[in-house]
Amino acid sequence: MKIGILISGRGSNMSAIIKAVQSGFIPNSEVTVVVSDKTGAEGLIKAKERGIETLSITRNGRTREEHDAEIVAELKKRNVKIVCLAGYMRLVSKGFVQAFPERIVNIHPSLLPSFKGLDAQRQAIKYGVKVSGCTVHFVDENLDHGAIIAQKVVEVRDDDTAETLSARILPREHTLYVESIKRIVEKKIKIVGRKVLYVD
Ligand code: GRF
Repeated sequence: MKIGILISGRGSNMSAIIKAVQSGFIPNSEVTVVVSDKTGAEGLIKAKERGIETLSITRNGRTREEHDAEIVAELKKRNVKIVCLAGYMRLVSKGFVQAFPERIVNIHPSLLPSFKGLDAQRQAIKYGVKVSGCTVHFVDENLDHGAIIAQKVVEVRDDDTAETLSARILPREHTLYVESIKRIVEKKIKIVGRKVLYVD
């Protein structure tokens, strides 16, 4: 199964996926390409070090649809079957979603549907919730909205800052994301409406 990863920054989730694929934890798969919409993304260096092809495809004044069409073309050219968004800071267009139906996955650092969008950990602290966590979900055209594949709860402490909470959520993101991709690759999920069921 050929996997493409889209990033905008640090790429720690990307690294976790690459390691899980290269170690065989995610079986019969290959991370074929890492695409960044930011030329200087730190994650690009990490991907290259792991021997993965990287591409920087910036928006460059184009419409979202034009930008996405170029990314889709590069992914299709490499026969990518699963697209993982890993800290990719853009909303994908309808055309992108339709090019990979139920094959685009995202990780978000909150328990969706709470705290969508940017700075989810800061939003959680500000709201005063006692637990937060992370969510892996399929991507549709709406922000942080597609069917939920898996979630992990992380306790919010009284003295947490956005930084300390983020630091505790991040390692959970890494494990949850690779476990979810493994399930998809092994065809151990079934999508029924908004529900993702686990099957063996
Ligand atoms: C992660 O917290 C992820 O959930 C969010 O953006 C952050 C990206 O971190 N979408 P990294 O680039 O994977 O290190």
